[in-house]
Amino acid sequence: MSLKNKNILLCITGSISCYKSIDLYRRLKKAGANVKIIVSASAAKFISPYIFESFGEQVFEDDAFKSPLSHIELSKFADIILIAPATYNTINKIASGIADTLITLTAAAAPDKPKLLVPAMNPNMYANKILKENLKRLCAFNFSSVSPATGAAACGDYGEGKFPEIDDIIFEVESAFKEKTLKGKKVLVTAGATREYLDPVRFLSNGSSGKMGISLANAAVQAGAEVTLIALNIGGSYSCDINGIGSMNGINSINGIYVNSRIKIINRTDFAGLKEALLAEFKKTDILFMAAAVSDYSFKEKSPVKIKKNSIIENSDENDKNSVNNTSPPILKIELVQNEDLLKAVSSIKRAGQIVFGFAAETDSIIENGRKKLAEKSLDYIFINDVSKDIIGGEENEGFLINKSGEIKTFKRESKEKLAEKLIEEIG
Ligand SMILES: Cc1cc2nc3c(=O)[nH]c(=O)nc-3n(C[C@H](O)[C@H](O)[C@H](O)COP(=O)(O)O)c2cc1C
Repeated sequence: MSLKNKNILLCITGSISCYKSIDLYRRLKKAGANVKIIVSASAAKFISPYIFESFGEQVFEDDAFKSPLSHIELSKFADIILIAPATYNTINKIASGIADTLITLTAAAAPDKPKLLVPAMNPNMYANKILKENLKRLCAFNFSSVSPATGAAACGDYGEGKFPEIDDIIFEVESAFKEKTLKGKKVLVTAGATREYLDPVRFLSNGSSGKMGISLANAAVQAGAEVTLIALNIGGSYSCDINGIGSMNGINSINGIYVNSRIKIINRTDFAGLKEALLAEFKKTDILFMAAAVSDYSFKEKSPVKIKKNSIIENSDENDKNSVNNTSPPILKIELVQNEDLLKAVSSIKRAGQIVFGFAAETDSIIENGRKKLAEKSLDYIFINDVSKDIIGGEENEGFLINKSGEIKTFKRESKEKLAEKLIEEIG
């Protein structure tokens, strides 16, 4: 995640979770941001401002009269005002137009700047309708907020109100700088690799990690879209209902890749499951990114029980078996059937205005094969990878984007996150 050269005013108010703002500060710096800090008088009772001073930062304490006009200077400095943690007290004061601390005063002096609240408090306080109404009201005035995490509070009460994961906050800070080019759009992404089972334990698959698809899903959220991800065999640590529909439930990464909690996740395993979910979801979708690595073949027959070693004998080559000098190993003969082309299937039911974005892995005649697939499958876009270049399962990606008019754009090797942002910009 990058916040290079962004000016962030980090305001820390008096919650028991104040100490987490130290980690947040470090992550903001690591992401390249310039950070100035205000510590409220109550927050200064929980953490010493000296912590930030020892990192070389100038810390503003909560006395607007100590250095006159600092609220104006700080409001002008900020590209974003990040109040984390944001107390019940400070949120409600700001919503009521009260400006009696350096933090509330600075927020008042920056009506046009984005302001992000990170509420953190006891679950009953967070459930209080006064707070809920004020958070809603503030949305109309350049404020947004990060949903707190659910769990046991410091006092022992259980519920929503905990300081969220730092990744979630950084994601929202980044989002504040992103153009909402996909606002109101429904985006469907497929990610991961299908598994075609031969028996309950053995399957045919490939090395796709799902990173490209997850990165696209995150980037689409940041561009303002409502996102559904059909996840094929990636992670599995998040909880799902019996239909395989899940959410991140406080866990915000799959295979070490950050996944935003607003993404609706549908888990599927094999080609048949993917097809069923894809065709059902596609009807509700404006833009489909088909980033999953789908098997071209399934087994003609799937054994309900584990195939035993001795079953190989029955399938071995008769001639070889009867031969006196039989030295070759026994052979298990398995038949594969070709799977339907899912991109062709969705393109054939495509409504006017729907966008279908395909991905293709090629090892030779990259552009030629890409063009052919784009035309054959009536795609709006195709991104072609040269998989001979160690891309599958890796951290980075590169390739060519071809659009409907046949224009080609080259994308140099970079992280899948950065590439995903660029591909989202292309269609936005
Ligand atoms: C031990 C203790 C823990 C507190 N934790 C929280 C908290 O997590 N969230 C919150 O909204 N208020 C919390 N408060 C209350 C605030 O500190 C109090 O409302 C204070 O006036 C906030 O001032 P500020 O918003 O200017 O920082 C706590 C108070 C105490 C004494």
